[in-house]
Amino acid sequence: MRLHPLFSVSTLAAVAAAQVDYSQYVNAFMGSEGPTPGQGYGGGDIFVGGARPFGVVKFGIDTTAANWSIAVLNGGWTPDGNVTAISMMHESGTGGAPKYGIIPQMPLTSVDPPVNILDNLTYSQPRVGNDTATVGYFKTSLQNGVTAELSASQHAGIVQYSFPSGEKHILVDVSHYLPGNPGDPSPQFYVGGEIEIGSDGKSYQGYGTYIGGWNNGAPYTVYFYAEFSEAPSIAQTFSGVNTDPMPRYQNLANGGISEPVFGNQTKVTSGPMNHRVGALFSWNDGPASQIVSRIGISFISTDKARSYIDSEIPSWNLNDTVADAVQEWNRDVFSKIQVPIDGSANVTNLRLLYSSLYFMHLMPSNRTGENPLWDSGEPFWDDFYTLWDIFRCTVSFYHILQPEYYESMIRGLIDIYRYQGFLPDGRSGNWNGLVQGGSNADNVLADAYVKGLRGAINWTDGYAAMVKDAEVVPYNTYDPTDYSASTKEGRGALADWLELGYVSQDRNTRCISRTVEYSLNDFALSQVAAGESPGDQQKYLKRSAGWQLIWNHNQTSLNFTGFLAPRFSNGTFNTSGYDPLYCGECEWHAISYEAVPWEYSFTVPHDMETLIDFMGGPSTFESRLDLMEEELTLQQFKPGVAVQNLGANGAGITTLMNIGNEPDFMTPYLYNYINKQAKSVQQTRSLTNQYYKDAPYGIPGNSDAGAMNSWLLWQLVGLYPVVTQPVYLLGSPWFPDLNMTVNGNKTLRITATGLDKGYYVQSVKVNGQPWTKNWLTHDDVMVDGGTIEFELGPEMKFWETGEVPPSPGHYTL
Ligand SMILES: *[C@@H]1O[C@H](CO)[C@@H](O)[C@H](O)[C@H]1NC(C)=O
Ligand SMILES: *[C@@H]1O[C@H](CO)[C@@H](O)[C@H](O)[C@H]1NC(C)=O
Ligand SMILES: *[C@@H]1O[C@H](CO)[C@@H](O)[C@H](O)[C@H]1NC(C)=O
Ligand SMILES: *[C@@H]1O[C@H](CO)[C@@H](O)[C@H](O)[C@H]1NC(C)=O
Ligand SMILES: *[C@@H]1O[C@H](CO)[C@@H](O)[C@H](O)[C@H]1NC(C)=O
Ligand SMILES: *[C@@H]1O[C@H](CO)[C@@H](O)[C@H](O)[C@H]1NC(C)=O
Ligand SMILES: *[C@@H]1O[C@H](CO)[C@@H](O)[C@H](O)[C@H]1NC(C)=O
Ligand SMILES: *[C@@H]1O[C@H](CO)[C@@H](O)[C@H](O)[C@H]1NC(C)=O
Ligand SMILES: *[C@@H]1O[C@H](CO)[C@@H](O)[C@H](O)[C@H]1NC(C)=O
Ligand SMILES: *[C@@H]1O[C@H](CO)[C@@H](O)[C@H](O)[C@H]1NC(C)=O
Ligand SMILES: *[C@@H]1O[C@H](CO)[C@@H](O)[C@H](O)[C@H]1NC(C)=O
Ligand SMILES: *[C@@H]1O[C@H](CO)[C@@H](O)[C@H](O)[C@H]1NC(C)=O
Repeated sequence: MRLHPLFSVSTLAAVAAAQVDYSQYVNAFMGSEGPTPGQGYGGGDIFVGGARPFGVVKFGIDTTAANWSIAVLNGGWTPDGNVTAISMMHESGTGGAPKYGIIPQMPLTSVDPPVNILDNLTYSQPRVGNDTATVGYFKTSLQNGVTAELSASQHAGIVQYSFPSGEKHILVDVSHYLPGNPGDPSPQFYVGGEIEIGSDGKSYQGYGTYIGGWNNGAPYTVYFYAEFSEAPSIAQTFSGVNTDPMPRYQNLANGGISEPVFGNQTKVTSGPMNHRVGALFSWNDGPASQIVSRIGISFISTDKARSYIDSEIPSWNLNDTVADAVQEWNRDVFSKIQVPIDGSANVTNLRLLYSSLYFMHLMPSNRTGENPLWDSGEPFWDDFYTLWDIFRCTVSFYHILQPEYYESMIRGLIDIYRYQGFLPDGRSGNWNGLVQGGSNADNVLADAYVKGLRGAINWTDGYAAMVKDAEVVPYNTYDPTDYSASTKEGRGALADWLELGYVSQDRNTRCISRTVEYSLNDFALSQVAAGESPGDQQKYLKRSAGWQLIWNHNQTSLNFTGFLAPRFSNGTFNTSGYDPLYCGECEWHAISYEAVPWEYSFTVPHDMETLIDFMGGPSTFESRLDLMEEELTLQQFKPGVAVQNLGANGAGITTLMNIGNEPDFMTPYLYNYINKQAKSVQQTRSLTNQYYKDAPYGIPGNSDAGAMNSWLLWQLVGLYPVVTQPVYLLGSPWFPDLNMTVNGNKTLRITATGLDKGYYVQSVKVNGQPWTKNWLTHDDVMVDGGTIEFELGPEMKFWETGEVPPSPGHYTL
């Protein structure tokens, strides 16, 4: 290698590091199954296939549901379903109704009856043996003898089909999408499209338009251009009556699935009745052979879709794209955390580390240059699925490890507010929705702001966007999951919040979880106001104490007194039959969402001081935390079953603590607030060892766009971020030596001695100085880099003598 004189030493280190293939440690199936081997239910709902960091394309198979009551088609790939297509766009780790699974191809070896190419169940293919997946590469073998291998770039995919001898067909059904459960209130649908066969006979282009899905989105259109390595002998378009039952739309669903009509025209459009359209490509019936296809997609035009093939996948050799993908992942992601990988390394731990990094970089999608809605020159991002999941500890990892991407994401979020009126909480298919609790983009913006992220972010507009969340009631979209207020964006229960200071039970759903979330949201506003609009700071700080208004100091449960409780708008607490161990279904109409009030009663990170006081002081607080981790087999519970059955969100979990769902993410670290860090280490290690594995059932529930994986990542490095504050709690690292690239080009080095003896902290040094606090600030090590030296050992030592972590939102109402 010839060295340019301007190469700095750190650039050289990065170049050298990029040559290590960390991708080999990624288990691309970590989270692919739930507690029942061979089934996805209760698992990570992860995407398995070809993808790039934050790429637009996630290229992989779509499968059928064996049993709708436990079906999780969300990521396309499932362990047990039959293959219906290989398609270009997927989500990763999501719950709710599926979205995407669009722009497909399906290799077939017969199209004779009983195959009806409009009926996927007549041609779907069981798989033979196990699929193979590594970073940037996926392989599956179908029962019909076809093996498909694929890879992806940011906006395109390449797939290589190895056909056995005999007939060879590739079906392109533009009307294909991942179906939802028939009873789902927000299924997605195809609403039209077009396909045209190229004059060279071996390419096709067109678009499909789709609507609905998980976030009840508006229609969006994806253009495609694809080409084959070999010209087919026959290429024909077809169309068919659309019989998909589309609630609230016209359809012709009463005659069963239609038969295709093959036309002689090279182009077919769906027309006024949303006809299904597609094309069938057939090669000569002959010896075994390979057919390769490259497919580009765009939200702008077929020309742009085509240009991505030229610029991103210029080679017909699949391996070139695989190698490029591996290189991009190593360079952009994996090499930013370096741990020893020599013979002494624990390979399981390496796999936990690099798999976590992989899964937290699959979403959101960088759609810069792909915004069909407005043209502002700002970056454009989609597939925030959702900020409710990723605000707690995922975005703060982006901040330190990927400041460029993160700045771009935040600019994208603010631009959505500029042009569409509100920041999203969830967003997919260019549409804001769903909001599960608060307006959590506020927390994301505040977290970035207090840690000094500036760059080209317009914080005047950023703060204005947050104020909109805090002051303007979003119009009601009458989402069938909850008709009572907007689930699209903003704060649906804001009217209560403004009038009462809390969300009441009689006027709103999810009154407890919304109250605690709005509290943190307003704390987030006060944090940004401090710099952008100092006159507002006290106002929002006061509002951030709203959770105190629903704290019922007399409410008891399991011998503890004082809990969040449902309160009516007239000021009376609802005590009739209320037990903070239960939430109803923990769904949209419940008093609290996806966790019971016992759990939500711990989620006030901005004012732990008041919370600990309300709970009865440090020692009662500690006993309560201890109880969270106990197996609840008390008389009133079914032994061995979680107190509140959360279905797929709590599969296999038998404690009140549900580390498989986001509200509890910080709870096991809260011992730091009473200077008993050793117990945080004890609880979080125990949870990690129990629920995180280098295995298909490797994460406790939906990955939630990598949220679950980022929790593990913080655990492995030995830190935990306190969102909306420039503060990190100290945990206990899993590696003897770890260098992490922070703030673009600085290094944070975290070392641990004594790991072989135990994992409790005996002492800590930060930047060479003895450290007596169990927390540090962003400035301490994340801006210029630095060092954290842990001395670990078997003794559960209460080593910290310094002040407890701060409560910057402390407020006495
Ligand atoms: C897959 O196809 C096989 C054979 O056609 C069938 O027996 C099985 O029920 C199908 N499974 C699913 C999940 O669709
Ligand atoms: C597929 O994987 C499972 C679980 O990892 C394993 O038990 C099985 O033997 C594998 N099957 C084949 C055909 O390799
Ligand atoms: C496959 O066919 C079933 C039954 O008609 C339908 O529910 C589903 O939406 C179709 N598409 C896919 C991709 O599974
Ligand atoms: C397509 O063309 C073929 C041959 O020219 C003809 O036999 C057939 O009827 C045509 N089909 C349609 C639907 O027009
Ligand atoms: C692609 O890579 C695989 C594995 O490294 C190798 O076996 C295969 O021969 C390569 N194929 C081509 C066409 O280069
Ligand atoms: C971390 O960086 C230091 C200083 O450059 C180096 O000595 C050490 O070997 C690195 N550790 C790892 C695991 O790369
Ligand atoms: C590697 O670490 C895991 C914890 O992730 C532990 O269970 C295992 O025993 C370790 N393996 C070795 C060989 O030390
Ligand atoms: C986002 O995508 C655009 C278009 O592909 C690219 O130019 C840009 O570098 C990406 N953003 C970041 C932060 O990497
Ligand atoms: C931020 O954007 C607003 C308009 O949206 C503009 O008036 C203002 O000048 C911008 N601020 C900066 C620093 O660019
Ligand atoms: C709690 O009990 C005390 C004493 O009985 C009573 O004065 C107070 O009003 C009660 N508070 C609530 C919120 O019920
Ligand atoms: C509550 O306290 C009583 C008396 O100390 C004890 O008998 C009972 O087991 C406790 N209940 C729980 C749920 O801890
Ligand atoms: C407050 O409202 C609740 C629910 O409507 C009602 O049961 C209760 O009696 C009311 N309390 C007062 C003091 O009016």
